Amino acid sequence: CAAAALVVRHRMKSSGKWTRAMAILREFEEKCRTPTSKLRQVADAMDVEMHAGLASEGGSKLKMIISYVDNLPTGDEKGLYYALDLGGTNFRVLRVQLGGKDARVVKQEFEEVSIPPHLMTGTSDALFGYIAEALAKFVAEEGEGFHPAPGRQRELGFTFSFPVRQTSIASGNLIKWTKGFSIEDTVGQDVVGELTKAMERIGLDMRVAALVNDTIGTLAGGKYHNQDVIAAVILGTGTNAAYVERAHAIPKWHGLLPKSGEMVINMEWGNFRSSHLPLTDYDQELDNESLNPGEQIFEKMISGMYLGDIVRRVLYKMAEEAAFFGDTVPPKLKIPFILRTPNMSAMHHDTSPDLRVVGDKLRDILEIPNTSLKVRKVVVELCDIVATRGARLSAAGIVGILKKIGRDTVREGEKQRSVIALDGGLYEHYTKFSTCMESTLKELLGEEVAANILIEHSNDGSGIGAALLAASHSQYSEVEES
Ligand code: GLC
Repeated sequence: CAAAALVVRHRMKSSGKWTRAMAILREFEEKCRTPTSKLRQVADAMDVEMHAGLASEGGSKLKMIISYVDNLPTGDEKGLYYALDLGGTNFRVLRVQLGGKDARVVKQEFEEVSIPPHLMTGTSDALFGYIAEALAKFVAEEGEGFHPAPGRQRELGFTFSFPVRQTSIASGNLIKWTKGFSIEDTVGQDVVGELTKAMERIGLDMRVAALVNDTIGTLAGGKYHNQDVIAAVILGTGTNAAYVERAHAIPKWHGLLPKSGEMVINMEWGNFRSSHLPLTDYDQELDNESLNPGEQIFEKMISGMYLGDIVRRVLYKMAEEAAFFGDTVPPKLKIPFILRTPNMSAMHHDTSPDLRVVGDKLRDILEIPNTSLKVRKVVVELCDIVATRGARLSAAGIVGILKKIGRDTVREGEKQRSVIALDGGLYEHYTKFSTCMESTLKELLGEEVAANILIEHSNDGSGIGAALLAASHSQYSEVEES
C-alpha cells in the first residue's frame, strides 16, 4: 500500500513537471507567433526604415550601404578573373575564365579553406596573412584552360560579407564585425588595403578590382543568368539583402548620377529592429551574451548561426525549471552554440516513427541518453516553432523590399516578373525553413502578385558575381572598349 502511494506520488510529481515543461513551451510558442497581420507590420516597418536609411547616413538601423555597383553584368565579360569569398567559418577562392556573350563561363575552379577559430578573434595581420597565403597557393596551381592576358596583372573580386562603408567600388572601411568575428584592429580599416598589404608581404601580384558584399555578389551572379533578377537575399550563417534602387531615390547619395540611373544597395537587414518583431526573453538573453549585444537583432532571430542556440536555450529552461530531461540538468545543455542549426534541421526533418535521429542527436551532442518518444516529439515541435518564426520573418523582409520598389502589387496591364536570387546554407539545406519562407511569401502577396515573383537559388552566385564585377571594373576594361 505504501509502495503504491509512492508510485502515485511519483506520477503526480512527474506529471506536474510535464505540465510545467509544456507551459514553458506554450508560452514560448505564443511569444513567437507571427500571424499575417504582424508580418504585414514587419514588412511596413522594413519599408519605412529603408526610406530612412536612404535619406541620411545613420538615419536608420538599416545602413542601406551604397555599393558603387551601378551596372550589373551583361554577359559580355571576358578574361580570367579571381574571386575571394570571406564571410563565415570557411572562405573560398575561385578562378573563372569568362568567354563573353556566347561562351559565358568557359571554365571555373574553386577551393574552400576553413578558418581556424583563433583567427576569427585574433589580429588583422594574422587573418589577412592566412587568406593571402591560401590565395597565393591557389594562384600557383593555375593550369590548363585558364588564359591570363600576357603582361597584365591578375585581378580579383573580393566578397567580404560584413558591413563595410564603401568609399569606391574597390575600397571600403569595416564598420563592425558580425557572425562571431571580432578582430578589433580591422574595425575602421580599409579591408582592401589590409588584403593588399598581406598579398604584397608574400609577393603575390594581384589587384583587387571590386569589393562587394555577398548579397551584391549574389545579385550580380543572379543577374548574369537571369536579367529579371532585382534583389538578392542571403540566408546562411548570417542574413542580409541587396536590391537595385533608382539613384533618384537615394537622397544621401551626393555623387554623380550613374548613367544607368540605378545603384545597388546593400541593406544590412540583419541589423533591422522593430517593436513588431516577436522577441522573447530567450532572444534577449542570446543577444546580451553575444559578441555584439544590441546589434543584428533581425539576424539573431533568423539566421543559421543562431537558430540552434535559441532551441538550446528553451530546452535549458525546460530542463532547469521542469526537469524535462530528468532530475539533473544535462551539463552540455549549458554550453552556448553546442547545438548547431544543421543538427536542429536534422532533428526537425526526422520522419522515423521513433524519431531516432532526434534521440541520436540528443545523446551524441547533448549527452542526454534514452529519451522517450514523448520528449523527442516536444523537441521537434520546438525546432518547428523557432524555424517557422525565422522563415516567416524573412518572407516579411522580402515583402518590405518589394513594397519599397513598388513590386508588391500588380499594376493594370503590367505583368512584370521580379526574380529574387537566394543563397546561403540555411536556404539551401534547411528544407522546412525554405518551404515555409516561400509559402509565407505567397500568403503575404496573394496569388496574383506572387505569380510574378520568383525565388531562384543562385548557387555560389556570390563568387562568380564578384569575379564578374572585377571584370567590369578591370583596370584594363577601358583599353578593351577602345
Ligand atoms: C551578416 C553581415 C552581412 C552579410 C550577411 C550574410 O549580416 O553583416 O554583411 O551579408 O551576414 O552573410
